[in-house]
Amino acid sequence: MPIKYNNSKKIFRLDAGSSTYIMQVRENGYLIHLYYGSYISDDDVSHLLANHVNAAFSPLPPSRESGLFSLDTQPQEYSCNGAGDFRISALSVKMPSGNTATELKYKSHRIYDGKAKLEGLPATYVNDDSKAQTLEIMMLDSLSGAEVVLAYSAFTAHNAIARSVKITNTSKDALRLQRAYSMTLDIPRSDFDLIHFHGKHVAERKFERKSLIHGIQSISSKRGSSSHNHNPFTILCDKTATETSGEAFGFSLVYSGNFAVDVEVDCFDYTRVIMGINPTDFEWLLESDQSFTTPEVVTVYSANGLGELSQTYHHLYRKNLCKGPWRDAMRPILVNNWEATYFGFDDDKLVRIAEDAANLGIEMLVMDDGWFGNRNDDNSSLGDWFVNESKLNGDLDSLVKRINALGLKFGIWYEPEMISPISKLYDAHPDWCLHVNGRDRSTGRQQLVLDMSRKDVRDYLFDTMSVVLSSTNIAYVKWDFNRNLSEVGSDLLPVERQQEVFHRYILGLYDLLERLTTAFPNILFEGCSGGGGRFDPAMLYYSPQIWTSDNTDAIERCFIQYGTSFVYPSSTMSAHVSASPNHQTGRVTSFETRGNVAMAGAFGYELDLNHLNDNEKALIKKQVNDYHKYYHIINFGDFYRLISPYENERYCAWEYVSEDKNEALFTFVSIRVVINHTYFVKLRGLDKDKIYIDTETGAEYHGDTLMNAGLRLNGWFGDGTSIAKYFKVKV
Ligand code: DGJ
Repeated sequence: MPIKYNNSKKIFRLDAGSSTYIMQVRENGYLIHLYYGSYISDDDVSHLLANHVNAAFSPLPPSRESGLFSLDTQPQEYSCNGAGDFRISALSVKMPSGNTATELKYKSHRIYDGKAKLEGLPATYVNDDSKAQTLEIMMLDSLSGAEVVLAYSAFTAHNAIARSVKITNTSKDALRLQRAYSMTLDIPRSDFDLIHFHGKHVAERKFERKSLIHGIQSISSKRGSSSHNHNPFTILCDKTATETSGEAFGFSLVYSGNFAVDVEVDCFDYTRVIMGINPTDFEWLLESDQSFTTPEVVTVYSANGLGELSQTYHHLYRKNLCKGPWRDAMRPILVNNWEATYFGFDDDKLVRIAEDAANLGIEMLVMDDGWFGNRNDDNSSLGDWFVNESKLNGDLDSLVKRINALGLKFGIWYEPEMISPISKLYDAHPDWCLHVNGRDRSTGRQQLVLDMSRKDVRDYLFDTMSVVLSSTNIAYVKWDFNRNLSEVGSDLLPVERQQEVFHRYILGLYDLLERLTTAFPNILFEGCSGGGGRFDPAMLYYSPQIWTSDNTDAIERCFIQYGTSFVYPSSTMSAHVSASPNHQTGRVTSFETRGNVAMAGAFGYELDLNHLNDNEKALIKKQVNDYHKYYHIINFGDFYRLISPYENERYCAWEYVSEDKNEALFTFVSIRVVINHTYFVKLRGLDKDKIYIDTETGAEYHGDTLMNAGLRLNGWFGDGTSIAKYFKVKV
């Protein structure tokens, strides 16, 4: 089994896939980190511990072992504040005395098969207890009474460990958590590059890679959502690491709110990583006997570069994070009316789009924003989740029946967490939005944010949404979220709990999502936040696909989908063919390229099908057919980033290989024309001994030829042109 305890040496050893993680309880009770990396045979690697210490400036605890033991220099499993470790700390507990010096010592531990649920929080899971084992180490700060359980679940088949922390107040007095990160990892080297994914609305998850510097570097959000600006995911890797070589450590937080990943390189050139809830605007009052559970961090180790790191996350998140019947079922190819009509639609317009969709093989119509209240622009009605029957010229059921009669499923848009100041809901409950009494309420897109920490607000949303969702045959819900949180106060919480609102908001969101996905288990939920502003693992737990970006330009999408692919599988990235010139960039791109790029995700259309010519309609039929043919490769195969648009700038390429390695789909996109150029691309992940047929040309190649010598691409590739090639093993 993956977790072992060496009783005589008090060593814990976790073997997750082909990675090993080792820690040790020292004689003085401190829990020290010993190793994380490729599989090793020995448990006792305490010889690796550094002996550097500055006896004057690194405090020596009285309970130290013989010698110069300082918390400031030893690798910690969960770093605390104020007792001699001056590096960034994961935990800070304020005692009634006002002091925060916290020191954790080992108390006990337990090991069990499987993985427990995290109360109120989404997390990875296993359906079969043999697929993971969990270690819980109970630590105690004897002065404050804070009991801290460090949980580690090691997955048998993946180089992945899921970590979380539960803090319980065992004292009689109230404690205040000033920070409670989900993990610490100390690594005895600093020659790393840090990779992270930053961006903004319509330009999410841009790849950035920089060397670590001494001191603290931090990636974070304090917008109340994981955000367009920084994804809760970071990689530390060898400076020489490539897609196929080098060590890499991934850190992915299963959380949708304010997060931080802080990395510190200390004076001894050691690196500490902590990741969890952002301590800015966070404080949690822990009364006697109360507990606080942190969100989960999933760490992945790869000895073979960034490609393997990504594939580990893809496999794990596809099967052990996404859930429900849509996890494995074939998702419908949809047409969404947003870029087709914006707010300007009625029932007949939707039916006309659906008629064309049905003729072309598209499987679902999604009615986007504007079907409720009095909403004909973005000035009003959020919160009034009642069907606008005059706009739809009848009730929703009549419209859905017309769509279903064409053979299409029906999907609907919601933005549950929002309230428009011009709405019946706001007239009735002006106190239901987040607000700070005495301060103006800042709007974003003319809307305010509901106080999701309130149960009455969540009950209202559950009830009004349930009425609509059970009124007719709804197959899909797009869950949007179009602004970030400001004036974050809640009327129902006492003064001493106002700093809890950011996190309570997220817990409330998860509660509502849990209730709705349980009540409507067959509905496919798609996450969205002005595109990919909340593209995080926690939302994937409830919605197995997320609208990747409001930017539907195929060339821009090459960059956005490239960045997103570092941690999130293609099955989770919604990608649509939209009109040309593109509505966001004005760029003209061929229909083929728009299809080839959108096919690297949960595929669909976002344009007025009534305005297409015969050639475009024929191409849609082909694309629909192709997507069905390639579905299992794209959604269940292995993904390879072959050429990065960030490194190359002129073209990019990617590839999917089926699980049995008998099929491969290769896509190449020319971003900027290169005059008179011959392109070679090496494929990856094939069986070297098998013969692959290029199904378009009939040419045959051994797998090793395609991987080692590569493929020469024929043709002249102008701006925005592309090719997709499907290879099948010769039988
Ligand atoms: C933002 C989303 O990302 C769009 O796809 C669309 O649903 C609009 N909101 C609707 O207001």
